[in-house]
Formats: sequence, structure tokens, C-alpha cells
Amino acid sequence: MVISFVNQKGGVGKTTTAINLAASLVRKNHSLVLIDADPQGSATHWHAVENNQAFDVIHYPMPVQKSDIEMIALNSSDVLIDAPPAIGEITESVLSVSDLVIVPVSPSSLDIWSCRETLEMIQEVGQTRPDLEARLLVTKKIPGTRVGRNAREAVGGFGFDLLETELCQRVAYIDAIAGGVSVMQYAPSCKAAAEIEDLCAEILSGWMEQDSTLDIWQTYQETLEEQAMGVRSV
Ligand SMILES: Nc1ncnc2c1ncn2[C@@H]1O[C@H](COP(=O)(O)OP(=O)(O)OP(=O)(O)O)[C@@H](O)[C@H]1O
Ligand SMILES: [Mg+2]
Repeated sequence: MVISFVNQKGGVGKTTTAINLAASLVRKNHSLVLIDADPQGSATHWHAVENNQAFDVIHYPMPVQKSDIEMIALNSSDVLIDAPPAIGEITESVLSVSDLVIVPVSPSSLDIWSCRETLEMIQEVGQTRPDLEARLLVTKKIPGTRVGRNAREAVGGFGFDLLETELCQRVAYIDAIAGGVSVMQYAPSCKAAAEIEDLCAEILSGWMEQDSTLDIWQTYQETLEEQAMGVRSV
């Protein structure tokens, strides 16, 4: 399955969420690659801090095609893509190869206004790819505040479905990234780790038990190989 994190607005938590979800999936025995499609290379920098062995991060800051994904993910069942804070060719190509696109949005008016074009692009790509699933994710919610309490209402005005899980603003996310680890590696019993586990469970139960286009392609390739071997052995 290909899951991307997309929002033209910078600093909303695309990279932080992608890294932590990837780490959580790996803990559940998923084999995956994180494609860092952002020219800033944030996920790549994170990976280099501790040479984190949980999963590979491939810096690929250019338009991506399905064939690129298949090559990069040769030995992995899942691919996560961290998109750049832009609305250009790279983002459009990321949407064109995704099964599920997650749009992290922080519940501030400036951030909410700024994701409109991203959502329009998702709708446009969705017209030719009706299977493309998209969900908004509330991130950096400040607990115990009015803004926090109104987050879902504020973010929900676009007519896109929201993930049930919400990620709050927590120091653990910042410290873990600085240390080159996931929040789970940083402090397994912290609230941030629990949020990421909830997010992972929601995504697993909602989508990952179904076959993705990548899985179908791999099965098709395997069938072809088996048929070719069968023909040779006759
Ligand atoms: N849930 C969170 N709680 C606290 N800080 C967070 C959270 N998520 C992200 N941050 C912090 O917010 C900043 C931006 O996060 P991040 O780099 O993940 O966003 P981004 O959307 O990938 O940004 P860009 O668009 O520049 O790539 C970072 O300093 C990160 O540590
Ligand atoms: Mg980023």
C-alpha cells in the first residue's frame, strides 16, 4: 500500500507523522520504505542522525511514477511518501501513485486556509483515480484549549473525512526527531507514542488489510514468473 503525507502548508507535521507511522508499522512486522520526496530532505536528515535501522529512507525529490515505486519498494510491501510543502509537479505525482493520502492540518486558521489548494488538487486527481482515498488528520492540537476543542469542527469544513485519531502538540515528537528515533523508541509509554499507535491501528483496520494496487501488481508479477517457470519446465 502507498500512503502519502501531503499539504502545501509547511510545518504541519507531514514528516513527523510519516516517520512515526512508519516506525509503528515496522513494529507490526510491515516491511516498508519511506520515500522522502521533499527537496529539504528532512526525513533523510532524521534517518542519518542515528542511522536508524527501523526502515530505509530514500531521498527522491522529483516527480515519481508507479514504476519508480515498484523499483524502490522491491522488497517491501508498503511505501510511505513524505511530500514537500508545495503544490507542484512532485505533489501531483505523489497523489497519482498513492492509495491513501493523509493531509495533516493543524487547527489554526492560517493553516486551515492554506490547505485549500492541496485539497483541490486531491479532488482533481481523484476524478481520474476514484480509488484514491484521502483523509485529513488533526495535528499539533493543543490540549485543554478552546482551539483544541474546536479542532475537528474547524478542520471539518472542507467536506473531507477526518481520521478519528488526533495528534496533539507534544515535546516528545520534537525530541524524538532530534534524537533520530521514533516516539516509541524515545519513550514507549508517552502520550505521543499512544497517539501514533492509535493512528497506526486506525489505518491498519481501515485500509491495510485490503490489497493495494502495489500488492496486486506484485502478485501479477509473481504469477507471470511462475507461469514462465512452468512453461520452461514442461
Ligand atoms: N505533534 C507535534 N507536536 C509538537 N511538535 C510537532 C508535532 N508535529 C510536528 N512538530 C514540530 O513542528 C515542526 C514541523 O514539523 P514537520 O517538519 O514534521 O512538518 P512538515 O509538514 O513536514 O514541514 P515541511 O512542510 O517544512 O516539510 C517541527 O519542528 C516538528 O518537530
Ligand atoms: Mg516535511
